[in-house]
Amino acid sequence: MWYQNKITELIGLDYPIIQAPMAGGVTTSRFVSSVSNAGVLGMIGAGYMQPNELRQQIKEIKALTTRTFGVNLFIPEQPKISEEEINEANELLQSIRNGLGIKWEMPTYENSSTFEEKIKIVIEEEVPVCSFTFGIPSKEVINELKKHNVIVIGTATTVNEAVINENIGMDAVVVQGSEAGGHRGTFAKGAQESLVGLMALVPQVVDHVTIPVIASGGVMDGRGLIASMFLGAEAVQMGTAFLTTIESGAHDQHKTAILQAAEDETMLTTVFSGKPARGINNQFMKELKSRENLIPAYPIQHYLTSHIRSEAARQNNPEMMSLWSGQGVRLSKRQSVNELITGIVSQVNQLLKEF
Ligand SMILES: Cc1cc2nc3c(=O)[nH]c(=O)nc-3n(C[C@H](O)[C@H](O)[C@H](O)COP(=O)(O)O)c2cc1C
Repeated sequence: MWYQNKITELIGLDYPIIQAPMAGGVTTSRFVSSVSNAGVLGMIGAGYMQPNELRQQIKEIKALTTRTFGVNLFIPEQPKISEEEINEANELLQSIRNGLGIKWEMPTYENSSTFEEKIKIVIEEEVPVCSFTFGIPSKEVINELKKHNVIVIGTATTVNEAVINENIGMDAVVVQGSEAGGHRGTFAKGAQESLVGLMALVPQVVDHVTIPVIASGGVMDGRGLIASMFLGAEAVQMGTAFLTTIESGAHDQHKTAILQAAEDETMLTTVFSGKPARGINNQFMKELKSRENLIPAYPIQHYLTSHIRSEAARQNNPEMMSLWSGQGVRLSKRQSVNELITGIVSQVNQLLKEF
């Protein structure tokens, strides 16, 4: 059957579908467990979480499902920046803060020891799957996870990055096309050169690695899934399609923006976090676009804008929120997780019958 392969066997899934980990409040326990209970892989986007929050959420999910789920972590980055540069970057945001009626607040910073603590929690709580983006962890971290039977999955945006993931010992690799919503996982080369569409990227990666490839970016339905599998992928990782489900923890304004947007309304931007990411073009992006060259590297800009984004969400103001979305946005639907999965499966069955 088309839905049984190395990935479904390795992870223990009914269908080769992974819900993209989406850091920033989308992947609530209810959402992740609904996804796992639908026979596909639910993932916690734990990139911005504090260790105690992660442990708490793992426990909640275990109470809601007996099926496989996973945790996704960001490889920590610590760019060097002077106090003066931070102040300059903060100045750029002052008029936006004034507009929202807020003052600058120092956020909680993540450091590499937080990353190590989260790895420890994944092992202690016996989480079956751990995936990474924004780079690759050390060989020691990979070995430690594998010693405890955790399946490790990396992210790549080029063939070279996929090969690096294979060489470090990843069990599978998510290949992220340029259509993808949210942050680019690029780590080996420049952002521009690493913008490769999924159709071009998947077969080239498949020809250069032996580990299973998971296609990600613009996959919204059964057509995207089976097309990815014809290109050689063994599963898909879908973000935008899951984000608008009833169970997802995304802000209602974010869901509505996606449900109303068209394929030519998303853009890549660095203005929210300092790292290129795809989202629906809004006032925040437009206001800062001409000053993108002054924006500090990730994660500094992420911390500088985090209070703005949370306050905008509280005020129900989508123009100042990060509305991450992929280019498949016009295919998004408001439906339950179960409807999304059963719809994809029956569409693939139908397509294969007609082929
Ligand atoms: C709201 C949002 C948040 C995301 N957060 C993460 C994340 O925390 N970790 C990660 O590896 N990928 C993240 N991604 C990227 C996804 O893993 C995936 O590559 C992308 O959603 C695929 O494109 P699609 O949205 O068109 O399906 C995020 C995507 C979105 C839309």
